[in-house]
Amino acid sequence: MALLVDRITVADLTLAGRLGRRSAFPPEPAKAGSLKMTTRSLLQELRARFAEALNAVAGDSTPVDPQVRASGDPKFGDYQCNAAMALAGRLKRKPRDVAQAIVDAVEVADLAEPLEIAGPGFINIRLKPESLSGRLGRIAPVGEGGVNPNRPELTDRFGIPPVADGDRLRVILDYSSPNVAKQMHVGHLRSTIIGDVFARSLEFAGHDVIRQNHVGDWGTAMGMVILGLWYRETRRRRGETDDVLRRRLVDLQSARESGVDERRALLQPIATDWAADLSDANAAVEPVRLEQLELGYQFVQTLTTVAEKTGVQAPGPDGDIELADIPRLVTQMLQTGGEGNEFERALWEAARAASIGYCQELYDRLGVLLRPEDVRGESFYHARLPRVVDDLRTALTGEGRTAPDGAKAVFREDQGAACVFVYEPDGKPRYANPDGEALPLIVQKSDGAFLYATTDLAALRYRVSELHGQRLIYVTDPRQQLHFKMFFDVGRAMGWAAPTTRLEHVTFGSVLGENRRPLKTREGGVITLARLLDEAESRAFELLHERQRAAESEEEGAAIPRFDEVEMREVARRIGIASIKYADLCRDRNSDYVFSWDKMLAFQGNTAPYMLYAYARIRSIYRRAADEFPDAQPYAADVTIQLDHPTERALALRLARLPETLESIVDELTPHTLCAYLFDLAADFMRFYEACSVLKAPDAASRASRLRLCDLTARGLRLGLSLLGIPVIERM
Ligand code: ARG
Repeated sequence: MALLVDRITVADLTLAGRLGRRSAFPPEPAKAGSLKMTTRSLLQELRARFAEALNAVAGDSTPVDPQVRASGDPKFGDYQCNAAMALAGRLKRKPRDVAQAIVDAVEVADLAEPLEIAGPGFINIRLKPESLSGRLGRIAPVGEGGVNPNRPELTDRFGIPPVADGDRLRVILDYSSPNVAKQMHVGHLRSTIIGDVFARSLEFAGHDVIRQNHVGDWGTAMGMVILGLWYRETRRRRGETDDVLRRRLVDLQSARESGVDERRALLQPIATDWAADLSDANAAVEPVRLEQLELGYQFVQTLTTVAEKTGVQAPGPDGDIELADIPRLVTQMLQTGGEGNEFERALWEAARAASIGYCQELYDRLGVLLRPEDVRGESFYHARLPRVVDDLRTALTGEGRTAPDGAKAVFREDQGAACVFVYEPDGKPRYANPDGEALPLIVQKSDGAFLYATTDLAALRYRVSELHGQRLIYVTDPRQQLHFKMFFDVGRAMGWAAPTTRLEHVTFGSVLGENRRPLKTREGGVITLARLLDEAESRAFELLHERQRAAESEEEGAAIPRFDEVEMREVARRIGIASIKYADLCRDRNSDYVFSWDKMLAFQGNTAPYMLYAYARIRSIYRRAADEFPDAQPYAADVTIQLDHPTERALALRLARLPETLESIVDELTPHTLCAYLFDLAADFMRFYEACSVLKAPDAASRASRLRLCDLTARGLRLGLSLLGIPVIERM
């Protein structure tokens, strides 16, 4: 690893346009049928073979967990099977005897050295070098068309086949899901970045992924959003600038704590203007930007608080009403639809379009897959909400219904609100407040309004019955855990999700500033995501600049091609965005993490710059060898991958484990395992490279073999990074 980090040189750099250029070794095109694909990962293969042996030893065919896993310590082989102990218990035999019986029964001679039994009955599995090199040898070179630099995973599968038809699932992936008229917060950023990895990995695995951006475009906040926009719009027509509005907002904010008279004095003129403007409600709405929406929204929100209990009135559709009540009324007008609210509707659409446009800009900048077509917001479900409540009422009133796990859902009105309660089989409430009182899932308020949960139930039905989802994944911050648990239970009790439908709520920890408090800007303000990305890019730029200056002052630095300004900007952009993503992905998503620019942008450690540099470094090693040995054909049919040196073997084993690493992401939805894998892969490569020179290989056969390992490593890194949503940089 020292090699990578001790002297970072700015190697000749290839940029955007040239990123897709074919490597100096024209890969042999794969001849149809000549290169058999491995159909199972090593781990799957071993599991299948041990499962068979376990059944033979147990004398039955009950499915067993063969408990095969990678060994933590090479002392115990590459993999271990730990199933003998449990099986011995079942068979009432000595664990070591059972282990011996498994060893006698299992057929792995083609894959592994003679098995060893250790301790109470662990079976250690050490793979044969031939089986490793055979496995890697079956990975075909990149095809004729080269690699799509934007989505390399679509053009180079690294020999990994998609899941068999029978195992393919329709996956509905709900992520990002920000709210209209609000900046995305860091939680939405995490959901977006993490969800994008799921989208890419599940798709790569061969599943059929439908992305759903469940934007909050219909909740109770919409009244305020609409009013805010309306107010801003009408004042604008009277020649008032946003600054005037901003000043008025500050006045309102400072009046929040003051007495009724004072507040009334402040509000009355606003209410009067408000009334005067009502007639003006028909002209076309100007497109707005998110900041303007936010300003209007904040204004109305503050206005509503300040107007509480002041009695200040303004004209409503059926006579004067309290200022504080208007937002609620507007929400209702929007939600009930009908004649006479075209203006509200137009304002809502403008707000929605501005918000979605702003999000898409961020998505594009982040390089995530989300597109405007993936937006299916809360509003989409609104016409289905009454039926949800009716169906719940009909099915769950009285006795209720029981979900497959025994949870019982019962419908009851509670203070006029429509509620569903969930009980354990023993009758205790499954969800209760600290005093032990049952917590309801409220689906309709006493005033008739529907809630977040109603929408999620409607969405669940839609996703299962119309989108035919078999696995539903939702990515949000953990504060919503209770909501998800409750509506999953209710959905299951209603049969809206079949017992086999997988419902998964995926959460993540918070992002903290270096002071362990929520993130702030350098000046102490709240960080917007756009500014966060700006800062990442400019910091990466500074870093690259410094790196280049350091290289120039060194002697050998003279031979190093320089970045020009444009190239440097582009590389900095990529590194900046990659660093934010990688920092988010590289640790267990459920732990909180401290956001540190210095750590995420470091060229050492498990970081994006390190991983990107490792990739570029391997590419340059490859190119240099290509220049010196133009005849070398690492993928020629007669090349065998030689694993004589321990570092060669270790690297090959690592490469052979890429498929099982990707499987684990698909099952467990843990991006950090992929990051850890890639980090280990880079380290294994560096150890190999230090021990086994490519340029000074003893003969052509071993040179070709080592070159092939170089190329496979680079391809593995590129595939892994691209599934993390991080495009590689060919030279840096
Ligand atoms: N808009 C919500 C929020 O910002 C997240 C929605 C998550 N998805 C869902 N189906 N509830 O908190």
